Amino acid sequence: MTDRVLIFDTTLRDGEQAPGFSMDQAQKLSMAHALADMGVDIIEAGFPAASDGDFQSVNAIAKAISTSTICGLARATEGDIRAAASAIEPAKKKRIHTFIATSPIHREYKLNMDKQTVLDRAVKAVRMAREFVDDVEFSAEDALRTEPEFLIEVFTAVIAAGANTINIPDTVGYATPEDIFQVFSDIKSRVKGAENVILSAHCHDDLGMAVANSLAAVRAGARQVECAINGIGERAGNCALEEVVMALRTRSDSYGIETNIDTTRLYGASRLLSGVTGHAVPRNKAIVGENAFAHESGIHQDGVLKNVETYEIMKPEDVGVPKSELVMGKHSGRHAFAERAKSLGHNLEPDKLESAFKAFKTLADKKKVITNSDLESLILGRETKTNGPWHLSSLNVSAGSRPVSMTTAAVMLTHDDGHVKKEVALGNGPLDATFKAIRRATGSVAKLDDFSVRSIGAGADAQGRSDVRLSLDDKSAHGAGVDTDIVLAGATAYIDAINRLARMMHSVPKKESSASPIPIEAS
Ligand code: KIV
Ligand code: ZN
Repeated sequence: MTDRVLIFDTTLRDGEQAPGFSMDQAQKLSMAHALADMGVDIIEAGFPAASDGDFQSVNAIAKAISTSTICGLARATEGDIRAAASAIEPAKKKRIHTFIATSPIHREYKLNMDKQTVLDRAVKAVRMAREFVDDVEFSAEDALRTEPEFLIEVFTAVIAAGANTINIPDTVGYATPEDIFQVFSDIKSRVKGAENVILSAHCHDDLGMAVANSLAAVRAGARQVECAINGIGERAGNCALEEVVMALRTRSDSYGIETNIDTTRLYGASRLLSGVTGHAVPRNKAIVGENAFAHESGIHQDGVLKNVETYEIMKPEDVGVPKSELVMGKHSGRHAFAERAKSLGHNLEPDKLESAFKAFKTLADKKKVITNSDLESLILGRETKTNGPWHLSSLNVSAGSRPVSMTTAAVMLTHDDGHVKKEVALGNGPLDATFKAIRRATGSVAKLDDFSVRSIGAGADAQGRSDVRLSLDDKSAHGAGVDTDIVLAGATAYIDAINRLARMMHSVPKKESSASPIPIEAS
């Protein structure tokens, strides 16, 4: 038993596959850099067989990151394993993570396979993955609802076939900490070869127990925890990375186990993810929520002033909360800018730092005080902006006047292929009119699922940030726009979402090779 738990981050795979959390390649790359910078041991970069876009993103991350192991997910099929192997090929350290469901309900209704077939598939998949890489993880999907004897049989066989990490997922978030402790203890003592592999926990949060369950697994001997920033993931999400890491650190007296995570990067990574996906972190979210270190009641404030430990078990600086919200302005230097960017999750390379710093100076000429949110939007917009196909060339809005509202928006959009579209629309308010005109100009039929506009920072010169979520068929895309003019911010966000959706629609789902000797597992 080592005294270190490996942190396996699945923000870009399990997290990204949750509705409303999809990210494009540039966004995934930004996140991957933040994860690598904080010391994540294994980054599950995606599911390469799922679509061409997924494949390309995993491949780009494999080329860009050398400090963390880059992992690609694969069902227990030849096509998936080949796709994962090829996507992660450029990585310095690489892993294939292959899985098949083992529980009776999944075997009967999803896979239509008997136990022996599932076992054979698992073994074949692990053997095949080992032909490509030395580091292979096997997951028994829905392990916590699998017959214990069968689980032991499967794990014994895949270890003999070459798996080095055995993942025991609570796929449906059904288990209690007591169940998890028992299952991990049994596997550790009864599976032949378990002493030579890493046992891993992958807990979903359907009953709000993902972090507690992951910690119970660690107590029983797990030395890898699969988790995601802000706890994103299928349904109620996965174990939150920042929570499990800070629990292990803060309660080292109880667990005696370390991680490789630079905890001062947690806050920045959380903010980055929230900016990229457009999903705000709840104020009361443990570790990274705005209220996580706020003390409102007089009694608490009094205690904290006398001795901070009366009400604080962690220091805000331990998780990277910047000391002060205001502060950056036109006299701030390059170094202060770089440091603040870093604390917000952006470790910029010299050329990017230089151009972002110039943009910051331009903004600082317009705005006296630059808040953290201003900075985040400025950097994020540059790092992850879509390059078309549509660009806003002009927007004119006349707001409605009584007694009859005649709010009108006129837009001019330019397409990458050079053609220009002009459209006018009447609407129920300036944003409605603007969105209608953009829809007409682009021909987009996507459904508007979500729209918000909020002020980032205080004061009359505060910028407005708009988030738009559009969907078409089974795809959904998020766009963001920031401007001191909120209608312009909304228009930019709407066009950004249309562009991202267009790129996703062109990302063709991969087909299984018909020559596959391991037939496709229905998923
Ligand atoms: O929840 C789950 O079972 C998974 C597997 C692919 C590991 O995400
Ligand atoms: Zn999962």
